[in-house]
Amino acid sequence: MGRVALVTGGTRGIGEAISVALKGAGYTVIANYGGNDEAAQEFTGRTGIPAFKFDVSDYDVVQDGIAKIEEEFGPIEVLVNNAGITRDGTMYKMNFEKWDKVIQTNLASCFNSCHAVVGGMRERGFGRIVNIGSVNGQAGQYGQVNYAAAKSGIHGFTKALALEGASKGITVNAVAPGYVATDMVRAVPEAVLEKIIKTIPVGRLGEPEDIARSVLFLVADEATFITGSTLSVNGGQHMY
Ligand code: CAA
Repeated sequence: MGRVALVTGGTRGIGEAISVALKGAGYTVIANYGGNDEAAQEFTGRTGIPAFKFDVSDYDVVQDGIAKIEEEFGPIEVLVNNAGITRDGTMYKMNFEKWDKVIQTNLASCFNSCHAVVGGMRERGFGRIVNIGSVNGQAGQYGQVNYAAAKSGIHGFTKALALEGASKGITVNAVAPGYVATDMVRAVPEAVLEKIIKTIPVGRLGEPEDIARSVLFLVADEATFITGSTLSVNGGQHMY
């Protein structure tokens, strides 16, 4: 059996591609999901990857969910914090609920899940954590003060935790996707999305597999000297 890997938000979109790529590389993958039972069942039926439902924004629920996973599959050695949502809107139209929901789901979730696994990783002297950021956390985006703040926070979180894990065999890195062909991006109004695509030098949206490939690279056993870094996968949209 390969190393045990947990992918949050791992049954759809970018997370699905990451789960499938990890399984293909021999990892024992568990996918978490938050709400879409139908998609999760379809995913498990198609890939054979078990799916565990829990809300990553709820600290206690995450501790419980991860404890159950570890009881069944063994210690989590690879954690990919991928779960994320958007609640776009310009500041003057955004309410506190939209702000809070995105901060809790996209950023606080990283604390919740890392807190559950980091102690074990330290004891065992091995861990791989990849947090999924965003080009919009690096560059900002009109209508996304909540999302950009959360994703930008992920980049700082990654570097701080990387410092703490460096002497314990734990690497912590971020991948910052650009605009990738998923339901989340397809929800952007068509005219707006067309304008955005024109700003991507490669001339197209990314594919979920483009992101999965970079995660695989970072979690490899051999990747012992890459930590605290952000790998930008955005078709050249911004040269970070
Ligand atoms: N820069 C400057 N002006 C912009 C703009 C931009 N990027 N986008 C819109 N505007 C302007 C419009 O042209 C319009 O101007 P006028 O009033 O002069 O005509 C004005 O802003 C509209 O403002 P409103 O506050 O009325 O905005 P709205 O309610 O119509 O919609 C929005 C605003 C919800 C932000 C909408 O523009 C939108 O959905 N934008 C896309 C945001 C986006 O890129 N989200 C990414 C989602 S995917 C993702 O996040 C994944 C990832 O990691 C990359």
